[in-house]
Amino acid sequence: MNPVPTQVSRRSFLRSVGVSGGAGALFATMGALGLAPTAAQATPAYRAPRPSDFTLTGRSARKVVILGGGIAGLTTAYELGKAGYDCTILEARDRTGGRNFTVRGGTEQTDLDGNTQRARFSNGTYLNAGPARIAQWMVTLDYCRELGVPVEVFTNQNASAFIYNEQSGMTPGNAVRYRTAKADVYGYVSELLAKATDQGALDTALSADDKSRLLSFLASFGAIGNKASGYAYTGTEHRGFTSDPGAGNDAGTILGSVPSLSDVFSSNVGKYFSFEFGYDQAMLMFQPVGGMDQIPQALTRAIGAHRIELGAAVTGVTDGPNGVQVTYTQRGKVRRISADYCVAAMPPHLMARVPHNLGADVTAALGSFPVTPVGKIGLEYRSRWWETDYKIFGGITETDMDLQHIWYPSYGHLGERGLIVGYYNTGSAANVYSALSPADREARAVAQGVKIHGDKYRTELATSFSIAWHRTPYLEGGWTSPPYTSPGYQLLLRPSGRVYFAGDWLSHAVAWQHGAFVSARATVTALHQRVMAG
Ligand code: ALA
Repeated sequence: MNPVPTQVSRRSFLRSVGVSGGAGALFATMGALGLAPTAAQATPAYRAPRPSDFTLTGRSARKVVILGGGIAGLTTAYELGKAGYDCTILEARDRTGGRNFTVRGGTEQTDLDGNTQRARFSNGTYLNAGPARIAQWMVTLDYCRELGVPVEVFTNQNASAFIYNEQSGMTPGNAVRYRTAKADVYGYVSELLAKATDQGALDTALSADDKSRLLSFLASFGAIGNKASGYAYTGTEHRGFTSDPGAGNDAGTILGSVPSLSDVFSSNVGKYFSFEFGYDQAMLMFQPVGGMDQIPQALTRAIGAHRIELGAAVTGVTDGPNGVQVTYTQRGKVRRISADYCVAAMPPHLMARVPHNLGADVTAALGSFPVTPVGKIGLEYRSRWWETDYKIFGGITETDMDLQHIWYPSYGHLGERGLIVGYYNTGSAANVYSALSPADREARAVAQGVKIHGDKYRTELATSFSIAWHRTPYLEGGWTSPPYTSPGYQLLLRPSGRVYFAGDWLSHAVAWQHGAFVSARATVTALHQRVMAG
């Protein structure tokens, strides 16, 4: 029988525990009921392994082989290295960082379809092809601090950016600015809610005081008229100006011709507004100065390049009672490495293909992560026409075209050239683009962007570089959707013999570096505890 079947009886149950057992008992009981964090649920404060853990106990650091030099693999080596563990990273590519990949002039890549691109970006221009934004709460910023990687603001939301919903009837040249879309949606929602409130439709939910406070909130939030006007939304400066306020008696000209309520809702602009409420996407956000790869580069320096084998593709993992043996190929040669422990920090769907003796359940679990296709293109322009002509300094334009999102750069403002992310798309839209040659991807992205920004989107273009993560060797995906409630996910959170797993795919911050960092920390903690207990 469930002792606390409903919210109400659960609350009175807690009250009675609080009275008889005090606050400590109340808190522990809440934890047992899943209402407060418990040690088992919350991520405990991280404590890095220390050299003194060994010197003070007469133990010695062990040898660890790490599969994959992305953020999780690098962090594992970096953290274990703090206590003197002898770590070796096997990285299949010719660089560390994994999906943390910054493309600059000279960067070359060949995809699984045989498309080779060599970026021709000018000096100082870069594309963060993978991760490109960091929220304030993310541990990623703590690593930037610790590693001495300077950061700057990344503009994730900009009232001056556009919304272009072709499927809802918008036509080329008629994209709407975010600020205008918000003014109209908030205005009409406020008008409707104010009318309903005033007419008594919400009287069972609102006291008289609640009603007047709600009406005063709606008046400012929606910039609506007074009661006499029927709380009408007629547009205000929230919509923006066609001629900005000027000197003397020039009050400017407010953007007029307010669309009807019906037109505003049928334009479907409101579907984008909740994005900025997301805990992971809310401003302020940050980026490393000079490119996201400053993070893996700093980690690589801290670990020591001699601990990283590049071009090393793992071909087998054999777990034994006294150690782990890993085979890999490097420059055409088959090589072998033995270690006390192994941390597999590769994408799960690729690790699933590596022959091993960890059991069929491990293979099945690794293969159970659905993979999301993701694509991006960097378009370098000869001029920053979005700044001069449109007054857009960073931020994102949203569309219902298959380019999905256009990002304006958050670096190099007021400079000469600049780079726009011309598409950042996922799922079937990413597959549409990746099926094209790089030249055709550029042409498609430009043809779609012209609908929002006009001819300069084509005529000012200097060069481009595109990536299809799901068609990129040794990664084969943008990110995964972890099957959190499956036994397989739980299985991979534990070591399989002497083999541990780590990656953003084993976290609740998937597709974020934060997830890779905290997963690596959890694995380091578990491995170190085992060594210290031995
Ligand atoms: N973390 C990824 C992004 O911000 C999904 O786009």
